[in-house]
Formats: sequence, structure tokens, C-alpha cells
Amino acid sequence: MYNAKVLETFAHPKNVGEIENASGVGTVGNASCGDIMQVFLKIEDDKIVDAKFKTFGCAAAIASSDTACEMIKGKSLEDALKIKNSDVVETLEGLPPQKIHCSVLAEEAIAEAIKDYRAKQAK
Ligand code: FES
Repeated sequence: MYNAKVLETFAHPKNVGEIENASGVGTVGNASCGDIMQVFLKIEDDKIVDAKFKTFGCAAAIASSDTACEMIKGKSLEDALKIKNSDVVETLEGLPPQKIHCSVLAEEAIAEAIKDYRAKQAK
């Protein structure tokens, strides 16, 4: 049911892991499937210099989080927030309709991590 790009990204993700002393961490979950995604960001001068993830979820969620991390690296926070789940799906060359919600988790986790960073900055 998954295309070759999704399977390849799932099998060989480049951004799995944690960032120690991350600038921002975002944790989101999907209540219906129970999957959880955590995104760690290293931010310097309002730019994302590194992004990593830990996902307890399906292949689509893992492929989506890896792709999203790859897409936001080097971007400003503003530009990273413009990346929508549909962009992640497009980069993955498509997901089955019942797996679109998995890509939404990636968009949400990044937004949460940036929110966390901004909240820390405001303190
Ligand atoms: S089935 Fe829940 S994130 Fe994929």
C-alpha cells in the first residue's frame, strides 16, 4: 500500500534521534491510532540548524517525520511553519488516503516544537 519512496524513507530515516539541550521540543499524538511523535529542534538566530525525531507509530508517521525534519533544516522559523502536511505528502510522492493523518502529526509536531522554543525565549 506504500509507494517506494515512503518505504525507502521508513527503512532508512536520516533524522532519527534526540537533540541534547534542544531549543524546542514538540510532542503530539493521535488519539484514534495512539501514535506519538516527538520533534527536537536546534535553533540559532531564528533558523533551524538541526531537526530530529522519535516516532512511536506507523510507517507513514515515521516517513513523514523524517521527511518533515529534512524539509525544515536550514529554514527560518517562519518558513518552517509554512510547510504543511500536504507538502510532506507531495515530497513522499503520496500516501494512502487513510494515512494522511500521519503526515498531519509531523506538521503539528514542528509547530509545537517552535511554540516551545518561543515560549522559552519569552521567559
Ligand atoms: S496510523 Fe496513526 S500516525 Fe499513522
